[in-house]
Amino acid sequence: GWPLLRITIFGTGYVGLVTGACLAETGNHVVCVDIDADRVAQLSRGDVPIYEPGLDALVTGNVNAGRLTFTTDAEAAVAHGRLQFIAVGTPSDESGAADLQYVRQVADTIGRYMTEYRLVITKSTVPVGTADEVRATIRAALDARDVSPEFDVASNPEFLKEGAAIEDFMKPDRVVIGVDNERAADHLRALYAPYNRSRDRCMVMDIRSAELTKYAANIMLAAKVSMMNELAQISDRVGADIERVRTAIGADHRIGYHFIYPGCGFGGSCFPKDVRALGSTSKQHGYEPALLDAIEGVNMRQKRVLFERLQAHFGDLAGRTIGVWGLAFKPNTDDMREAPSRTLMEALWEAGASVRAFDPEATGEARRIYGDRADLALCDSALDAARDVDALVVVTEWHIFRSPDFDELKTLMAQPVIVDGRNIYEPDYLRREGFTYYGIGRAAGNPAPV
Ligand code: UDX
Repeated sequence: GWPLLRITIFGTGYVGLVTGACLAETGNHVVCVDIDADRVAQLSRGDVPIYEPGLDALVTGNVNAGRLTFTTDAEAAVAHGRLQFIAVGTPSDESGAADLQYVRQVADTIGRYMTEYRLVITKSTVPVGTADEVRATIRAALDARDVSPEFDVASNPEFLKEGAAIEDFMKPDRVVIGVDNERAADHLRALYAPYNRSRDRCMVMDIRSAELTKYAANIMLAAKVSMMNELAQISDRVGADIERVRTAIGADHRIGYHFIYPGCGFGGSCFPKDVRALGSTSKQHGYEPALLDAIEGVNMRQKRVLFERLQAHFGDLAGRTIGVWGLAFKPNTDDMREAPSRTLMEALWEAGASVRAFDPEATGEARRIYGDRADLALCDSALDAARDVDALVVVTEWHIFRSPDFDELKTLMAQPVIVDGRNIYEPDYLRREGFTYYGIGRAAGNPAPV
């Protein structure tokens, strides 16, 4: 077997919590520390504040088995783990750069309390060069105490996708390990050995390459989506159907079918923030990026297409009621950070329209963000959200939206207008059923193939 490791994780957000639960699941003893006492108390009861398939059971099981504990006691947490993960948030600051204040605070805390060797690993997405800052911060805190236990720093970015986070952690495509010595590399290889049984997925490299890899992966993916969305805009104007184009180009292995779905723009906690942050890093180092800014520019425009489509159809939207299917930025999550649904709803309210919305998981989150307001009805079912609406907009492609009872829908809706922000329906079928159908990049009225 592999040595059981004592692990400390700072931050119980998405990345910290999934990492902690998964590492505990394979037998390690994991302490997760957070400054938010309410969150710690909640998690200690096995109550998981985010929706992520399988995470509840994993947390509860490992808490009950005594392998996973939550605390606010930073001193005890630093004493616990030979490996100390930093998994706190790195939000965008006003300039778009990643705000490192929480990362620095954790590094300082570790330096303030450590008495023996520690390997400090950044798992948060952090700009290139952050490991050096972490090292300097720890060093300064140790100097202030006039002690000098040994420590290493490493970069080990997380690539998990929300909605598939546990699967991604347990069966990673690759594990990126950025280190500057063998001791640190050995610790991390041992840590990930249980997830490497079919093949060695560890890619050991220098720290800066590891830090850049995380951004590079997300930027490539975001660029694919923006490229498709730009093609969809062109497709609409030249009278083509982007879905036919997509299936044809995906057949080229160099392009591939993954991640080339046009839609109403990308959201979430990673893509928008990381595109901005890499742009900012690039400028700080004297290189003016051309493509990076375009990825975000296209996306911002794309997030407005649903509203513009409605405006083009109805003219004045004041007094209209619009049904919204899907609030989360993608299926299988309740996360609404930078979600296209928010751009749409806010524009509709601005124009004097009201919204009836349904999402299988995110209505609670919507209530938290927007509170109670007269122009937002959060509904208990998809059909309820379609009742008496002038148009229905599909914003998130949850499975349950894929095959609704169109007859019933048409009866419920005030007008049979569907705006399909994820191209999940067959345009000809809907038109035959009597709907006015708008997709993304599927030129309205495009003739069926002969
Ligand atoms: C992403 C990366 O995939 C993950 O590796 C990284 O660790 C964090 O960021 P996530 O934000 O959870 O993960 O979502 P993802 O499934 O990648 O989707 C991102 C956004 O792109 C969503 O808004 C989604 O709707 C959109 N998207 C994705 C498209 O519009 N078209 C596609 O073809 C794929």
